[in-house]
Amino acid sequence: MDPGSLSPREFDVVVWGATGFTGRLVASHLLERYGAAGDLRWAVGGRSARRLEAVREELGPGANGLSILVGDGGDAAAMDAVARRTKVVCSTAGPFARYGTELVAACARRGTHYCDITAEGQWIRRMVDEHEAAARASGARLVPCCGFDSIPSDLGCFFINEAMRSRTGRPCAEVKLLVRRLRGAISGGTAASLLKLIEDVRDDRDARRMLADPYSLNPDGERSGPDGPDRRGTAWDEDVDSWTAPFVMAAINTRVVRRSNALMNYAYGRDFRYDEAQMTGRGLRGRAVAAGMSGTLGAIVGMAWFRPTRWLLRTFVLPSPGQGPDARRRARGAFDMLLVGRNDTAELRACVQGDRDPGYELTSRMLGESAVCLARDETTPNVGGGFWTPASCFGDRLIERLERNARMTFTIESDG
Ligand SMILES: NC(=O)c1ccc[n+]([C@@H]2O[C@H](COP(=O)([O-])OP(=O)(O)OC[C@H]3O[C@@H](n4cnc5c(N)ncnc54)[C@H](OP(=O)(O)O)[C@@H]3O)[C@@H](O)[C@H]2O)c1
Repeated sequence: MDPGSLSPREFDVVVWGATGFTGRLVASHLLERYGAAGDLRWAVGGRSARRLEAVREELGPGANGLSILVGDGGDAAAMDAVARRTKVVCSTAGPFARYGTELVAACARRGTHYCDITAEGQWIRRMVDEHEAAARASGARLVPCCGFDSIPSDLGCFFINEAMRSRTGRPCAEVKLLVRRLRGAISGGTAASLLKLIEDVRDDRDARRMLADPYSLNPDGERSGPDGPDRRGTAWDEDVDSWTAPFVMAAINTRVVRRSNALMNYAYGRDFRYDEAQMTGRGLRGRAVAAGMSGTLGAIVGMAWFRPTRWLLRTFVLPSPGQGPDARRRARGAFDMLLVGRNDTAELRACVQGDRDPGYELTSRMLGESAVCLARDETTPNVGGGFWTPASCFGDRLIERLERNARMTFTIESDG
């Protein structure tokens, strides 16, 4: 069913969670790029009318005409009412496992397209299992992970595979993503989501097993392939002459890339291999930095595991919900990811870069542009209702938008 055929929708896009740190940035991007009274009809939503009015005021006089939608994420009827009024919901209200479930259910039921910036793999798996059938029936396209997790990885992998296919007639047999540079900070909402994920899996053996599965997000019956467990510890990488450490976001990004491959009928091949790591440089220094990064990651997970140390982390180390890096810090942020792809005849190097803080300044643009793609039906052919990934739903259409509107570039660095 075409969602548009259900009934005319009042809005093209509702930014849900617009009072949060990232939500405010999404609203600001849409206002700057599309205006409040232009041909994109959009509104802001969240649980507090008072806070939403404050956001509208903060956005400036240009935002005066924006409508406000109010409801609690735990209230099924309220989420149903939100989903019925708009063609697309774009959500930043996280932790998503805490506040996002009723909204996804309502969108799936009502044929409302949906995108978000979750990286909570355990919750995505549950949402797919519970709502895929309803979304297929209603025509709702649901696309989680439209932020820094996992757009650069997922679209980067799509991009290098397309380039390899146009040069050699075949996709890459393997792609490795190496983070060359990452300058950014984390918000309270991200910290809360990380702690929620660890809490969820700590007492649930099935959830732990699911998260450890490299193909955990693949469709039923498709959860196997040549990739093994995530990297642990340090390693020397000969391709780039550098020590490497595990990349903190690989746990979600690699699953999203593998799901994309399965949803695109194995466009990268059934034996396709994918991996991510963080480069730390050469020599003793590079090795020490890699060891330090691995150790810090392990220590944070270890502290989050136990109640007293989790309290210490939450109270003294991590920012609180609503907080995040200020505008100056966001302007100094950047990321640079190298993708090395090869098949048996060629090697190709591509890079995905962005010149602002990736987690918030660029994430808000990635999410906003994903929502506009959904609102304007700028998807790859034959994308019907169901749960998708950024690459399988948007492909080139979103790459073009991100290059035009989100300060990001996708380039081929070298052919071999
Ligand atoms: N994938 C990525 O790259 C990426 C990047 C950035 C953030 N994120 C994720 O995005 C999420 C938000 O991060 P953030 O730093 O923006 O968080 P935040 O500032 O704490 O914002 C959370 C939002 O959720 C809303 N909310 C809380 N409880 C609610 C409820 N019961 N019903 C409806 N809305 C509710 C909050 O409303 P109030 O203002 O009324 O409290 C606020 O609008 C987190 O899950 C984070 O991990 C992902």
